[in-house]
Amino acid sequence: STELILLQDITKFTSRSEEFFPLEWYKKMLENPVFYHEETETWNVFRYQDVKDVLSNHDVFSSVNARTSIAVGANNTEGQMPDKINLIFADPPLHRKRRSLLSAAFTPRSLKSWEPRIQQIAEQLIDDIEPGNTIDIVEALTGPLPGMVMADLIGVPSKDVMMYKQWVDILFQPIVKERQEELDRKKQQAALEYYQYLYPLVVEKRANPSDDIISDLLKAEIDGERFTDDEIVRTTMLLLGAGVETTGHMLSGMFYSLLYDDQSLYGTLRNDLELVPKTVEEMLRYRFHNSKRERTVKQDTNLLGVEMKKGDVVIAWMSAANFDGSMFENPFELNIHRENNKKHLTFGNGPHFCLGAPLARLELNIVLTAFLQKITRIEPVEGFDLESNLTDAAVGQTLVHLPVKIYK
Ligand code: HEM
Repeated sequence: STELILLQDITKFTSRSEEFFPLEWYKKMLENPVFYHEETETWNVFRYQDVKDVLSNHDVFSSVNARTSIAVGANNTEGQMPDKINLIFADPPLHRKRRSLLSAAFTPRSLKSWEPRIQQIAEQLIDDIEPGNTIDIVEALTGPLPGMVMADLIGVPSKDVMMYKQWVDILFQPIVKERQEELDRKKQQAALEYYQYLYPLVVEKRANPSDDIISDLLKAEIDGERFTDDEIVRTTMLLLGAGVETTGHMLSGMFYSLLYDDQSLYGTLRNDLELVPKTVEEMLRYRFHNSKRERTVKQDTNLLGVEMKKGDVVIAWMSAANFDGSMFENPFELNIHRENNKKHLTFGNGPHFCLGAPLARLELNIVLTAFLQKITRIEPVEGFDLESNLTDAAVGQTLVHLPVKIYK
């Protein structure tokens, strides 16, 4: 199995809040562009062009990694990714074939038909919010929404969504050194229960296909290859892992930003909803931490100005590259009007560019728009302590609670 790299050994962040918004660290790291970390034996890359090269030049930097900082799934059979869909850790040309098979579930046509469903989930959650009160927006909206959306798109009946989300939460809890064994056991159990729940659902959809991801995957065929029921169950697990926590993290970060980065922004957006898409892109650039990925050097290279040897591990810090001044003017400023803010690397770059990016963007735009239409004003709550409201997640530090005063 792949050896885990513990990023904390590299960053040495001293608090959760620092990891939640590590701009000072980026500033420092962007000054020494490529740096070798002895303890973890990793190259670390921060500048925009370097990060882009590492992510996209698959002839030199391979995704077939011996070591990684992300722990996905569980290590029993039910929690393993089937080879046929293991695109994250594959290089072209094999990667291309696997990705095409999975892409069947992410066509523009599907996206169009998902829009009203996402809209309905967002509106329902926002309508349930009581005006005049302080609410926890993570609990009320940004936490449940991505899981509810994925469950709906996958075809899970709505009554089972919360049970489903619990499995997902366990499966994607990050491994901590001291609790590795206990966490492994919990993940295996969750994977088993998930598997046993979903398998009959897939069998049922094969007989009665409907308008959802499982039914799309059942139809998918590339060069005579198709998915088995078993593979489809485990593919949904991959999609959840890739798309639930990430989107929830971004949604919470976006509301945090509206409350604490620039309090005039909310009013500006309410007056002009057409600013929403650009705002979403700027939030992806400015408030998503930490997007980063590992690659393994395939052949000796000095492409980045240093001698890298075959087998070396390189970590590309996308969230740091989003603050590179040679790409973004005044990078440490939140500016929704920035011309090129869609150039952020939060979704990666090159052949592995996030397959779910159109879905994530759709969710973020729908939620923000629906919220602006229904909630006239939001205010932070006095005395909110960021540090005690963060928790470890695969994406870094993520908000567990975010109290907000709501006016309808
Ligand atoms: C790949 C980020 C949401 C599915 C990636 C990669 C990044 C990323 C950085 C590239 C990995 C690499 O280069 O090795 C994000 C962020 C999201 C998000 C920041 C939300 C804000 C989603 C959603 C889905 C999804 C909603 C789908 C349900 C995938 C898949 C891949 C991927 C399947 C693998 C693509 C490949 O290896 O070819 N994502 N993602 N992601 N993402 Fe996302």
